[in-house]
Amino acid sequence: MKAFAIVNRKGGVGKTTTAVNLAYVLATSCRLRVLLVDCDGQANATQILLPRGEYAGLGALLRGWACCYADLVEHTDVDGLDVLPASEDLWALDIEAAGGDRGRCYRAIRDMREALEEDDAYDVMVMDCPPNLGASCVSAILASDGIIVPVLSDACSATGVGDLVDQIASLRSLRPDLRVSGVLVNQWHRSPVVEGSVEYLRKEGHIPVYDTVIRRTDKVPESSWARMAVQAWSPFCSAARDYRALASELAEKEDIRHGEA
Ligand SMILES: Nc1ncnc2c1ncn2[C@@H]1O[C@H](COP(=O)(O)OP(=O)(O)O)[C@@H](O)[C@H]1O
Ligand SMILES: [Mg+2]
Repeated sequence: MKAFAIVNRKGGVGKTTTAVNLAYVLATSCRLRVLLVDCDGQANATQILLPRGEYAGLGALLRGWACCYADLVEHTDVDGLDVLPASEDLWALDIEAAGGDRGRCYRAIRDMREALEEDDAYDVMVMDCPPNLGASCVSAILASDGIIVPVLSDACSATGVGDLVDQIASLRSLRPDLRVSGVLVNQWHRSPVVEGSVEYLRKEGHIPVYDTVIRRTDKVPESSWARMAVQAWSPFCSAARDYRALASELAEKEDIRHGEA
């Protein structure tokens, strides 16, 4: 199994859109068995993929209350795509972790990953992270093979990538082989400033930038109003096609295969 954490401390850059659509395409077009883990207490990915309801979800896992991942994971309407939902109480975790067993919390997703691999349950795990490096985000990063960093193509986003990479590097004391898989340019459109930022990222950055960019289209916010993946809402719009291209690029570069624990 391969695991990817979608990380950026900025909100609104497309983490949730990327996690949901990447997971959707890997399950549908690539026919892989996918688990989306919603690590953000805002629970946006959960709301898109699951019916309204209360879920014990990730809070229970991180607190060590769940004895088995199968008790927490929910099936979606999409064949091959399951979700470990976020719970509203995730925000409280950082306060608890500050006073208590931070290590257990940090290890929780990695421990679950080991169980998933033992059971050969999934081919890919995609983790949607909150806009901070709190306990659930650190737990996701430490469980990942690669970190995907969505960015918008403005100067702050482009220059902020360096800071984020430094922060991720500081977690190498907990796991030396942490790796940024790539930066993903989101909301791309033809304009000098956007093209300039992408060029800056590709030339100046010390980390890889995916060949695929995700174009800006109103179909994406429309799909979030409809509580659907853009893949389902408007399968042939630019962003839906771009996410399919991203899944192919990722599957090839990261060697994602079916049935390989
Ligand atoms: N490619 C895109 N084109 C247009 N709007 C987008 C695109 N990607 C994301 N958005 C919009 O940007 C907003 C933030 O996206 P979201 O995925 O929730 O970001 P994050 O999880 O990083 O906070 C949402 O309203 C979403 O609909
Ligand atoms: Mg989000």
